[in-house]
Amino acid sequence: MVLPGMSVLCRCARVRRWRSGPLGLILTLSGLFTLTWLVSMLGNTDILDRPAIREVLLLRSDMPERQPVHTLPIHTDPDVATRHITVRERCSKLRQGGIGKNRQTSGSLPRFPMSPVISSTHKPQLFYCPLAKAGSTFFTRYMIAAASPGPMVSPFNISIKDAKRDSLQSFQSLRTVPERQTFLKNSFRFLFTRNPYSRIFSAYIDKLYSPNPYYWSEWGVAAVKLYNLPPQAHPCGTNVSFRDFIKALVAKLHHRDMHFIAMTQMCRVCDVEWDMVGQVEHSVPDLDFLSEKINVTSAFQHRAGYSADNTNDVIVDSTTDVFTEWLDDIKNCMNVFDAGRIIWRKLQIRGIIYKDSPFPFSREDMDSMTVIRFQDACRRAAADATDKTRLKKQKSDAISQAFSTVDLKDLEKLRSVYKTDFFLFGYDPNPSYILDITQRRQEAKILDWRENWT
Ligand SMILES: *[C@@H]1O[C@H](CO)[C@@H](O)[C@H](O)[C@H]1NC(C)=O
Ligand SMILES: *[C@@H]1O[C@H](CO)[C@@H](O)[C@H](O)[C@H]1NC(C)=O
Ligand SMILES: *[C@@H]1O[C@H](CO)[C@@H](O)[C@H](O)[C@H]1NC(C)=O
Repeated sequence: MVLPGMSVLCRCARVRRWRSGPLGLILTLSGLFTLTWLVSMLGNTDILDRPAIREVLLLRSDMPERQPVHTLPIHTDPDVATRHITVRERCSKLRQGGIGKNRQTSGSLPRFPMSPVISSTHKPQLFYCPLAKAGSTFFTRYMIAAASPGPMVSPFNISIKDAKRDSLQSFQSLRTVPERQTFLKNSFRFLFTRNPYSRIFSAYIDKLYSPNPYYWSEWGVAAVKLYNLPPQAHPCGTNVSFRDFIKALVAKLHHRDMHFIAMTQMCRVCDVEWDMVGQVEHSVPDLDFLSEKINVTSAFQHRAGYSADNTNDVIVDSTTDVFTEWLDDIKNCMNVFDAGRIIWRKLQIRGIIYKDSPFPFSREDMDSMTVIRFQDACRRAAADATDKTRLKKQKSDAISQAFSTVDLKDLEKLRSVYKTDFFLFGYDPNPSYILDITQRRQEAKILDWRENWT
């Protein structure tokens, strides 16, 4: 199958297949052991004193094997100018707790699961660790723009396809260990992180909920098998609920899928002396900071058309492959009318178009739909959606409702999986919009694209 819509990262590392059999069991057991160990090593603030969590534990008191849950202290989010220093300090706290060895001092290089992206021609040399679902395609395009001769263009002026091809250099392309060490030592090293809850939700909406035959078969089919879901309700791994997806994530995916492996591990965060740790949540000020450090202008993000470029980018990315290269594969699994309505709902969930904006096409229209016509309709609806506050509310309603369907024991596992990410980067592991225990639901109505979003 052609995979043009996959993120830039897939170019560098093959997405590994589901493990099954004894090896899978051993990995799962060792994963559980590691988690338990992490929990006991890191714990210094008992979260039992948080009312929401107490309730989680009470509800789970029927489970005899339950481990005490601890969490790390929540720090306020430091400014981009000092965040990398805070991360270093927190890494050294982890080391004191016996977690993670300082591999730098042993003379070897950190082994990155995914090759970082570099520029050896730009001054200073650049070293960027891409993280799936944390703006990796965008920041890779930014790297290309920064490293190209001539005035700095907007990353949106670099096509997504170019960010997937060989218009950039990978760290792995440096042949020898000394070469890599020298490069790492002499470059400006940065990464961008994202709130783990948003990162997971975004992966689900973009890749499993949305028409995407590749991830239907990678994640969807696997979840169906793992939980014996009725196959007729899930042709080709479609129609997998957020709740079941999270079950598959905490059971398996977080060990081996680059979208779900903890950011700390993907970027060997504690093995590299970062010069900047950006956050997707603060991408505008953080990009201003980065650009100044690497001597390029960030004027592009302060120009009038920037937000429209961003919107257009999402629309193009959500539709192009669906109506071209993937269309036949999609039609084997769902009809085009449903695929169109799912994309429409996705754009509503992502805060691109209003939730009450009606789907503009009939079943017959969709039978002969072209990518241009569909994109034009999306652009028109997006142009009407000017109230940013309203769109923001839509986005937060969607993520809250999705998480409110997740089993409490799976939420607890999620917090463990991303424990170091929360700690190192200052994200709250227990935000009220995720953990509102009074608002548990059986299903997320917002995600049901057959119904109006009321
Ligand atoms: C992007 O490209 C367009 C032409 O395709 C040009 O008009 C615009 O100025 C460019 N924007 C930036 C910020 O480079
Ligand atoms: C999707 O799954 C639900 C159960 O989770 C089922 O009730 C529904 O009929 C399924 N939809 C389709 C189109 O099969
Ligand atoms: C920054 O870039 C400008 C040209 O864009 C160049 O003249 C200047 O020397 C550069 N500064 C540094 C410190 O590299």
